[in-house]
Amino acid sequence: MTRSILVTSALPYANGSIHLGHLVEYIQTDIWVRFQKMRGHTCHYVCADDTHGTPIMLRAEKEGITPEQLIERIHGEHLRDFSGFHIAFDNYYSTNSAENRELAQGIYRRLRDQGLIDVRTIEQLYDPEKQMFLPDRFIKGKCPKCHAKDQYGDSCEVCGATYTPTDLINPYSAVSGATPIKKSSEHYFFKLGECTDFLKAWTRDGHLQDEAANKMDEWLSGGLQSWDISRDAPYFGFEIPDAPGKYFYVWLDAPVGYMASFQNLCAQRDLDFDAYWNAGAQTELYHFIGKDILYFHALFWPAMLKSAGYRTPTKIFAHGFLTVDGQKMSKSRGTFITAESYLQQGLNPEWLRYYYAAKLNATLEDIDLNLEDFTARVNSDLIGKYVNIASRAAGFIGKHFDGTLAPQITDSALISRLAAAAPQIADLYEAREYGKALREIMALADAVNQYVDEKKPWTLAKNPEAAAELHEVCSVSVNLFRLLTIYLKPVLPQVAAMAETFLAIPPLTWADASTTLRGHRIQAYQHLMARIDPKQITALTEANKQSLQAVDHSPARHAEAQAHQQAIAETISIDDFAKIDLRIAKIVNAEQVEGAEKLLKLTLDIGLETRTVFAGIKSAYQPQDLIGRLTVMVANLAPRKMKFGLSEGMVLAAGDGGGIYLLAPDSGAQPGMRVK
Ligand code: MSP
Ligand code: ZN
Repeated sequence: MTRSILVTSALPYANGSIHLGHLVEYIQTDIWVRFQKMRGHTCHYVCADDTHGTPIMLRAEKEGITPEQLIERIHGEHLRDFSGFHIAFDNYYSTNSAENRELAQGIYRRLRDQGLIDVRTIEQLYDPEKQMFLPDRFIKGKCPKCHAKDQYGDSCEVCGATYTPTDLINPYSAVSGATPIKKSSEHYFFKLGECTDFLKAWTRDGHLQDEAANKMDEWLSGGLQSWDISRDAPYFGFEIPDAPGKYFYVWLDAPVGYMASFQNLCAQRDLDFDAYWNAGAQTELYHFIGKDILYFHALFWPAMLKSAGYRTPTKIFAHGFLTVDGQKMSKSRGTFITAESYLQQGLNPEWLRYYYAAKLNATLEDIDLNLEDFTARVNSDLIGKYVNIASRAAGFIGKHFDGTLAPQITDSALISRLAAAAPQIADLYEAREYGKALREIMALADAVNQYVDEKKPWTLAKNPEAAAELHEVCSVSVNLFRLLTIYLKPVLPQVAAMAETFLAIPPLTWADASTTLRGHRIQAYQHLMARIDPKQITALTEANKQSLQAVDHSPARHAEAQAHQQAIAETISIDDFAKIDLRIAKIVNAEQVEGAEKLLKLTLDIGLETRTVFAGIKSAYQPQDLIGRLTVMVANLAPRKMKFGLSEGMVLAAGDGGGIYLLAPDSGAQPGMRVK
C-alpha cells in the first residue's frame, strides 16, 4: 500500500548559523524521508526558517538592516548549508510568509471564537530608553539569592536559582543598559488548561515516545497554565487580529510554519492541502524535533490544532542533543563547528551523515561525535568495507570482460542472503534505528569481503583458464556491491548516485533488492569516496577556534536571548582593588553536584589551605578535565551558604552568556601565589 506522508524538521531560528548539532536532526529526518521515497511512498519533506521574535529584530537593528533583509540573507545561508549536506527538502520556506500569516491568524480566530482566548493585564519590565518590553533574557542584574552579578532575568548561572526578572537586584536592560521600569499591558492567553483532558489522552495514545510521554505527564500533572501568546510592539512578527499593537509570540506562528511551507508546496505541485491537514485526514504527519522543544510540539501544538479543527500529528519523533568528544559543543575547544566550516575545510558531508546514522536510534539519548572514532569508523566501514568491493571487482570486469557482467550467475547464495535482509533493514530504518540498520549492513559487507578474499580474483586473473570463474566472482561482487548500495542509499545519497552512474543503472529503489544485474555493461569505476585524514579533523577544530565571533550560540535560544557586550563598571580606587585577595588555586578535585543544574563542586588548593567552592561552570566543563588545572580564586570572599553546602570563595571565569572560560595563569605559577 502506498502511504502519503508529510514530514517536518524543526524550523531553525533565522539569527544563527547551522551547526553540527542542528545537523543531527536534519540528517536524521532526511535519511527517513529518502528511505520512504525509495520504498515508493508519497513523502513530502518541508521546513522553513523561524524568522520572528525579539532577537532577530535586535540583531537586524545592530547590523543596520531591516529584519526582512536579515532573514532573507540567513535563508540563503541555511539553504546553502543544508544542500551541502544533501538535506533534500521538498520545500524550504519562511515563517514570514503570506501563507503563514493567514493560517496563524485563522487558527487564532478559531480559538478565540471558541472562547479559548483570555485577555489579562500583566506587569513586566520595560526599557524606558529603548521603549520596549524586555524578554527575561534581555534583563540582567544581581541574583536575588546569592547576589552574583550580571545574571539573566530568569535564572542564576552561579547558584542555579530560578526567579522572575522583577526579583533581580539592580536590574538593567541588556539592550540599552537603562534601568527597567515596571509597566502594565494587556496580554492574550491561550487557555491551555481547557485542553487538559484532550492532552492527557493524546499524549498517551501512541503519538509520543514513552520517555517523551512521561515528561509530558510531569507538565500535565502540575496543571496547565494559560499560555501567553502575545507580545507588544515593537516586535517582528504577525499582528494579532483586532488587537492593534499586539503581535503573536514567535512560538505561536512557528509550528504553523509547517503548514504554511506545505501549503506553498501544494501551490507549486498542485497537491491537496486539506488531505494532509483537515481533521480526520487519512495521511500521515510526522515532526522530527530535538528534545528541548518537546512541550511546544507535544502540548501546545496538538492543543492548537485540535481546538482549531485540524488534524493532529501522527507522531512526534524527538532526538537527543549532540556532544563532541563527550562534552557540550565548545567554542574554546573548537568543537562548536558550523556546517559551513565543515564543508569549507573540504570534509565530505557523507562522512558525517554516515557517522550520525551509525549513532542514531529512536530514543531521546544524546549522541556523541567522538572525533577519533569518527575517523576510524568512516575509514574502516565506508572505505575499508564498502567502497573497496566495487574498486576491487570493477577493474577486472573492465580489463578482461569489456565492462560487461556475466550473463549467468551460478553461485548466488550470498546474493540471496543479502537480498533476504532487505525487509529487516527496512524495518530498522522505519523505526529510526539507523545504528542497528548500519550494523546489519556492515555485517553483510564483512561477508562480501570474506567472499572476495576466499575467491581471490587477483589470483584467478593470472590464470587464463580461470576466466569464467573470474567473470563470475567479479559479477557476483558487483551485484553484492549494488545491494549494499541500495541499503546505504538513504544515508549516502551522493555515493549512491555515483554508484548508479558506475553501474549504468537508473536510480535504485528498495524493490531493486530482489533483482540482479546480468549480462549488463557497466562504466569504468570512478573513486567513490576518500579516506579521512586525521589532519583534516585537527584543521577543522583549529578553524573553529579561530572563528569564534562568527558563530552565535547562546544557551538560551528559546528565551529570546543574545548576550550583549557589557558596559565597563564604575571606577574604583587601587585601595578598593587591594581589598580583593586573589590567589592562584589548584583544582585538586572537581565533581558533579547532585540536583544542581549549573554547579560543579571544586576543591581548591591555595597553598596554606584547601577550599570548597561551588562554581557555575558545569555547562562548559567536565569535572575530570578540571582536576590538576590552575585557576584564580577570590580567597577573601565571605563564605556563602548554598543549597548544596558552604562555598568558600569564587573562581574567576569570563563569559558573555555564550560560553564560560575559566581563567588560568601562565605556567610556573604556584598554588597560593597572590594575584595583583
Ligand atoms: N526555532 C525553534 C524551532 C521551531 S519549530 C516550530 C528552534 N530552533 S533552533 O535553531 O534552536 O533548533 C532547531 C532544531 O535543532 C531543534 O529541533 C533543536 O532541538 C535542534 N538542535 C539545536 N541544537 C542541537 C544540538 N546541539 N544537538 C541536537 N539537536 C539540536 O528550536
Ligand atoms: Zn544566584
